[in-house]
Amino acid sequence: MRVLVLPDAPSLAAFAAEHLAGLLDATGAKRTNLALSGGSTPHATYEALRTYPVRWKRVDLWLGDERWVPHHHDDSNTRMVQETLAEHVPARLHPVPWEENLGPVEAAHRYSTMLASFLDAVDGQLTPEIVLLGLGDDGHTASLFPGTPALDVTDHDFVAHFIHEKDRWRLTATVRLLHAARHLVFLVAGAGKAAALADVLEGNGPPLPARRVADGAADVLWLVDEAAAAQLTATSLTRP
Ligand code: 6PG
Repeated sequence: MRVLVLPDAPSLAAFAAEHLAGLLDATGAKRTNLALSGGSTPHATYEALRTYPVRWKRVDLWLGDERWVPHHHDDSNTRMVQETLAEHVPARLHPVPWEENLGPVEAAHRYSTMLASFLDAVDGQLTPEIVLLGLGDDGHTASLFPGTPALDVTDHDFVAHFIHEKDRWRLTATVRLLHAARHLVFLVAGAGKAAALADVLEGNGPPLPARRVADGAADVLWLVDEAAAAQLTATSLTRP
């Protein structure tokens, strides 16, 4: 696990975009895929990433998690990634399905099937290439929230669950799917995340969701800014 610290949010976004572009082009001529994080932190990264001459026609973009809202809704991650990235590049975006008469559980099931149409599988396990993840101030990542049963799902790659503190259904990649990823990149910015980041990377209590995801993945990179790293005291930090 590597932790790179950038001076501020703009330099973090620029560095993250360059890093993701490099990963996307590292797979040569074969198709590759990138799971996009929701929330607000990655907006600037996506806006920078879309300027890179990536061979986008080989790229499948998908969502690591989604809120159960129509794609045009202000809270939709699909809408956010379309506006900041997917509408600007010739990559193939795979939104989580949403229909009037479709329920979130069935939508998650359908999405798992959709993922299987373009993700590699190794020994029967879907294997994402690159997954970008955020960190909530409670230590959640994707839509894996502390204390929720979705954290312990081992027989599905993508599930739906109702999040009481959000009063909303969320759909999310599971720990099983995230652990299978070849590259996990966490993107964390701002002083508001400093306590959660310190707890995730240095806490002695029960591991928060982001730690459970990070522990057990093959290649984990934390890209953070100085404000988010302010409470780290025992982690080896690299300043590129
Ligand atoms: C979502 C995200 C979620 C997000 C964190 C951080 O759908 O909201 O996938 O995991 O990454 O909540 O959100 P911010 O970047 O807005 O702080």
